[in-house]
Amino acid sequence: SQPITINTLRKMKAEGDKFVTVALYDAPMAAMARKSGVEVLLVGDSLGMTVLGYDSTIPVTMEQMIYHVEAVKRGNNKSLIMGDMPFMTYATAEQAMVNATRIMQAGAHMVKIEGGAWLADTVRMLGECGIPVCAHLGLTPQSVNKFGGFRVQGRDQAQAEQILEDAKLLDRAGADLLVLECVPNALAAKVTAAVSMPTIGIGAGRDTNAQVLVINDILGLTPQPPKFSKNFLVEAEDIPGALRKYVADVKAGMFPDESHTFG
Ligand code: KIV
Ligand code: NA
Repeated sequence: SQPITINTLRKMKAEGDKFVTVALYDAPMAAMARKSGVEVLLVGDSLGMTVLGYDSTIPVTMEQMIYHVEAVKRGNNKSLIMGDMPFMTYATAEQAMVNATRIMQAGAHMVKIEGGAWLADTVRMLGECGIPVCAHLGLTPQSVNKFGGFRVQGRDQAQAEQILEDAKLLDRAGADLLVLECVPNALAAKVTAAVSMPTIGIGAGRDTNAQVLVINDILGLTPQPPKFSKNFLVEAEDIPGALRKYVADVKAGMFPDESHTFG
């Protein structure tokens, strides 16, 4: 099969086909993900929690991200690889240019940054230099200390409008994808309809253009899994089987269901 590019994902949005993303961190998982039909691999800074044992993503460094992007790249040359930019490595557009360069040179095809309107210039500048950007709105984990915990965002009217406006602004600035994390179903649907870029949901209901889950949650490695996740290994024989089930359920509109969703 052909390598997945942003054009593949745009075409899928246009045709109403769901695509599948997994946050993962190493070469063997990256290889299995592609064989199981996963279109996008996110080397997430969630690795701070899932792999390194920190209680948030705040301690994650550029060096750690680069190490894991390189590993994922060695395992997979067909999926689109997205690399998270860690906490405070894109606080200014200049910093973002320097640090995004390193993530791209480690093997990513796109970088992901958390935040709204304040990132519009950064998105535009990166895009002009040839660096695609995935924006990330809703529960942005690098802001956990400002939120006072990992909590659903966009439940009140003002917050919901802010998220919608931020999404539109980043779309106009040229963002290529948008992750929506832990927002009500209806808001994710509204944002998805309002922007041209494909949206990827996690705890955002089934109306986004794609879904993302963390590999640890898919495989039952998380002691207290979040409500929006699902252990697909319990219904499968092995890890590739669990990934195939996740892919099939997303594409069929069967995952997420009501039990994974915030109203
Ligand atoms: O770091 C990560 O894995 C993420 C996803 C959960 C969207 O940002
Ligand atoms: Na992340």
